Amino acid sequence: MTTRPFGSDSAAVSVIGQGTWYLDHGDRRMAVAALRAGLDRGMNHIDTAEMYGEAEPLVAEAIAGRRDEVFLVSKVLPSNASRAGTKAACERSLRRLKTDRLDCYLLHWRGGVPLAETFAAFADLQREGKIGAWGVSNFDVGDLDEALDIAGPGAIACNQVLYHLQERAVEHGVLPWCAANGVALVAYSPFGHDDFPEAGTAGGKVLARIAQAHGATPRQVALATLTRHGNVFAIPKASSAAHAEANAGAMALELTAEDHAAIDAAFPRGPRKRHLPML
Ligand SMILES: NC(=O)c1ccc[n+]([C@@H]2O[C@H](COP(=O)([O-])OP(=O)(O)OC[C@H]3O[C@@H](n4cnc5c(N)ncnc54)[C@H](OP(=O)(O)O)[C@@H]3O)[C@@H](O)[C@H]2O)c1
Repeated sequence: MTTRPFGSDSAAVSVIGQGTWYLDHGDRRMAVAALRAGLDRGMNHIDTAEMYGEAEPLVAEAIAGRRDEVFLVSKVLPSNASRAGTKAACERSLRRLKTDRLDCYLLHWRGGVPLAETFAAFADLQREGKIGAWGVSNFDVGDLDEALDIAGPGAIACNQVLYHLQERAVEHGVLPWCAANGVALVAYSPFGHDDFPEAGTAGGKVLARIAQAHGATPRQVALATLTRHGNVFAIPKASSAAHAEANAGAMALELTAEDHAAIDAAFPRGPRKRHLPML
């Protein structure tokens, strides 16, 4: 499975996409090449944010001449998320990304501005053709209920949340809520940001064994595990073409029921948490 509809948006979006947080902190030429290599391998989903420093201009360079291939996502900071502030932030992101539209625009996390204001700005931006779909990020079930009450069914394309093998809290409530309401769940930090299970650990050994059986890598197994649910996407960040290409390879990996059982045993979901974890 390489693409699927993105929640309420019918666009064909790659199941594995490309994150860009901290991408501007390393070698810029390599980072641009990584995003392009990812696009070459079908990872059309590129995730950025006004918060990510120089990442938006870097994305602009990577997608120059290829804009139509990309499902481009950016995010407004909660401190900018008033009706006027959201629209101004979007204009700034469009300028930095050197494009005239975003495919999806997200509220990065919930802040003090009433959701109705931000969502009204998203609707304005949609009418103006500046964004295709819109969504939210770091929303727990209560926030999603409130968002749905305000926006109505079919309006919220996605909820982007922390989801990796060692942090499966979303499976208790957020993931089923999204599946039931036609909302895509986008797994951010799918490798745990900088905490991927080490090769020598019990979990690392399980991943290595399954990876070897499929001619894959442990990280590919992790991505295939997270995206086994029909409404889930993952957006690993890669700073090199080799890493991007390896991540794209996860889209061809089909795990068995036995694999999933072994991974579930090695990385248990854990008890329900009081608050949705976020980075
Ligand atoms: N909405 C939110 O609040 C939120 C929060 C956090 C993140 N995000 C989004 O999610 C994206 C991904 O999360 P993340 O950047 O925190 O971390 P991540 O994707 O979980 O992990 C990134 C780390 O994995 C390494 N890596 C990637 N591909 C690899 C490969 N094939 N082999 C070996 N190592 C590999 C990277 O190394 P290299 O850099 O050397 O390739 C980097 O050290 C972000 O970039 C951002 O777009 C959103």
